[in-house]
Amino acid sequence: MFNTTLTPTEKPFQSVNWNVNFSTTIIVVINSEESIGPEYEGRITFFTSTASLELRSLTLGDTGEYSVNIVQDGKIQHGRTILVIYVTSSSTDLVEFNGSVSLSCSASGSSLSFLWLNGSSEVTASDRVQLTDGGSSLTIINVTRSDQGPFRCHVSNPVSTGTSDPVNLSINGPENINLILSPSQGYFAVGSDISLTCSVGSRPPAQFKWFLNGDQLPDPGSELRLMNVNMSQSGNYSCQAFNSKTLRSQTSQPSDITWLKIGGKNHHSHKFIM
Ligand SMILES: *[C@@H]1O[C@H](CO)[C@@H](O)[C@H](O)[C@H]1NC(C)=O
Ligand SMILES: *[C@@H]1O[C@H](CO)[C@@H](O)[C@H](O)[C@H]1NC(C)=O
Ligand SMILES: *[C@@H]1O[C@H](CO)[C@@H](O)[C@H](O)[C@H]1NC(C)=O
Ligand SMILES: *[C@@H]1O[C@H](CO)[C@@H](O)[C@H](O)[C@H]1NC(C)=O
Ligand SMILES: *[C@@H]1O[C@H](CO)[C@@H](O)[C@H](O)[C@H]1NC(C)=O
Ligand SMILES: *[C@@H]1O[C@H](CO)[C@@H](O)[C@H](O)[C@H]1NC(C)=O
Ligand SMILES: *[C@@H]1O[C@H](CO)[C@@H](O)[C@H](O)[C@H]1NC(C)=O
Ligand SMILES: *[C@@H]1O[C@H](CO)[C@@H](O)[C@H](O)[C@H]1NC(C)=O
Repeated sequence: MFNTTLTPTEKPFQSVNWNVNFSTTIIVVINSEESIGPEYEGRITFFTSTASLELRSLTLGDTGEYSVNIVQDGKIQHGRTILVIYVTSSSTDLVEFNGSVSLSCSASGSSLSFLWLNGSSEVTASDRVQLTDGGSSLTIINVTRSDQGPFRCHVSNPVSTGTSDPVNLSINGPENINLILSPSQGYFAVGSDISLTCSVGSRPPAQFKWFLNGDQLPDPGSELRLMNVNMSQSGNYSCQAFNSKTLRSQTSQPSDITWLKIGGKNHHSHKFIM
């Protein structure tokens, strides 16, 4: 918001000219007739009573020197200001190492102070949370799911303020891996279909590998379908989930699917019955 110090008036200004860097026209208003520079179409609001200007959807390129010339009653008035702050917080700056995440906030301008927001609350330093480089870097150690954010960086100096785009932390896991059999009753007839599903907490989603008695199966994906099962497929099944961001993997407990002539009840294994 570029506010002029003019007292609001109902009488239209003879002319108003807003430009940036003394070269690019933002808006020219002559006798209430507005003409807007092509880059500013839909991004500005001109306030006719004060000649103030609102500029929205800021980008780094909006940094610059803004000036206004106002003609009223034959008198020229001039105002200028420098837009000094632009904040960029980028998910591309996300650095990840051994479960820690660093976010950095960059802004141009002097005497900057930084404040980080986690959702709507202010981030405070602790054993796990470090604020460094004058507060412009936030490092979270042993990141957990509860740290998903969104994180924003708020920068201010005596002249201006800015808030970054939100960053969601979406790196976690794999954890709580679980191998689920369907049907779940634990007894399977030869020739039936069984589906094994690997459930795991992971962001980004995990990649899966399946093992039968320790040997890797070619099947990818979180679900392994065994169609028309026969004896050769009995054994210990396990799945392994791998998170390509955390470079960690987790392997499920093996699920023992064993051929039995007579189904002997065993709560810890899943048997075929003839
Ligand atoms: C600028 O004007 C707007 C609208 O009148 C007002 O809400 C805002 O507080 C003003 N900002 C400053 C810095 O005076
Ligand atoms: C104004 O000039 C600066 C410095 O040359 C440049 O970085 C900025 O993008 C310019 N701003 C606009 C809106 O053209
Ligand atoms: C991360 O862990 C690996 C081994 O697990 C170790 O070699 C490496 O030095 C660690 N990196 C950091 C930054 O702690
Ligand atoms: C991070 O986790 C490791 C391993 O669980 C633990 O030894 C360490 O104290 C934790 N660090 C902090 C700052 O909580
Ligand atoms: C972010 O907020 C969540 C929920 O309030 C909290 O559990 C978590 O510890 C916070 N993380 C940081 C780094 O402030
Ligand atoms: C970040 O998380 C918030 C809620 O936690 C959600 O509304 C928003 O869409 C997410 N943004 C991205 C880019 O995933
Ligand atoms: C058992 O099933 C596997 C996988 O479908 C198949 O390759 C194999 O030939 C079958 N064995 C018998 C004895 O039917
Ligand atoms: C599966 O694992 C269990 C326990 O490790 C073992 O007793 C059993 O013999 C294994 N079954 C097969 C078919 O290898």
